[in-house]
Amino acid sequence: MKGIVLAGGKGTRLLPLTKFTNKHLLPIYDRPMIFFPLATLRESGVREVLIVTDGKYLADFKKILKNFPGLKISFALQKKPDGIAGALRLAEKFAAGENIAVILGDNIFEANFKKDVCEFQSGAQVFLKKVADPERFGVAEIRGTRVSKIIEKPKNPKSDLAVVGLYFFDKNVFDIIRKMNPSKRGELEITDVNNFYLQQKSLICSKIKGFWTDAGTFESLAAATKLVREKGQK
Ligand code: TTP
Repeated sequence: MKGIVLAGGKGTRLLPLTKFTNKHLLPIYDRPMIFFPLATLRESGVREVLIVTDGKYLADFKKILKNFPGLKISFALQKKPDGIAGALRLAEKFAAGENIAVILGDNIFEANFKKDVCEFQSGAQVFLKKVADPERFGVAEIRGTRVSKIIEKPKNPKSDLAVVGLYFFDKNVFDIIRKMNPSKRGELEITDVNNFYLQQKSLICSKIKGFWTDAGTFESLAAATKLVREKGQK
C-alpha cells in the first residue's frame, strides 16, 4: 500500500504559531509533528509516501525529512486549503491505481496498522476511537452493531466514537471526490467520501487500540506532548 500524509490546511487553531511555520513542523516533545504519522505508516508496512502540503514551507519539510529512515518521500502542493478530500485529490497520480493509506499530518497513534494494511483489499476502511469530545470530529452513528452514518462535527453526537485521521481507500476514491460538492464551509469533506462508501456497503469500520490524539489545538498539542513524553516514541 502507498501512503499519503495530509499536511496542508490553515492551522488557524494554533495561531500565532502557524504564522511562522507549518502546523506539522511544530514540535511534539522532541521532534516535529510530521515524524509521527510518517512513523505510523512505516510501521504499518508502507514504504512510499506522498506528503501533501501548501508550498510555503516546502524547503523546511525537505530539510527536516532529508534523512527520514525507511521511507521514500515525495511532495504535492495544495494551492488552497479546500479540505481533506481536496488535499487527497492531489494524490491520484502518485497512487497510480493502488490502494492507499491516508493519514492526517496532525494525528498521533500509538498503534500500528500492519495487520489492517495486509488484510485490506477494496472499498474503504475507517478507524474509530472512543473520545470525551466527539463533537470535534466525524462521529459514527451506530444502529445495532453497525455504523449507519458518519456525521461531521455534530452538535449533539449520538455516540462517543470519533473517526480518527487514518483511512484506507481503493482506487475509486478519486472518482468519488471528483463527483463531490464542497460543504457549507467550502471544503471537500472526507466524511462525505466515507459516507459514500458506507452507502455502497463497502466501508469497514474498526476500533483502534492504544492512545490516539490529534494535535491541532493547544489542548491536544499539550496532551500529545505529554503522552509522547510518558510513553516514549516510535
Ligand atoms: P483540520 O485540523 O481540520 O484543519 P486545519 O489544519 O486547517 O486547522 P484549523 O481548523 O485549526 O484551521 O485538518 C486536519 C488535517 O488535515 C491537517 O492537519 C492537515 C490536513 N488538511 C489538509 O492537508 N488540507 C486541508 O485543506 C485541510 C482543511 C486539512
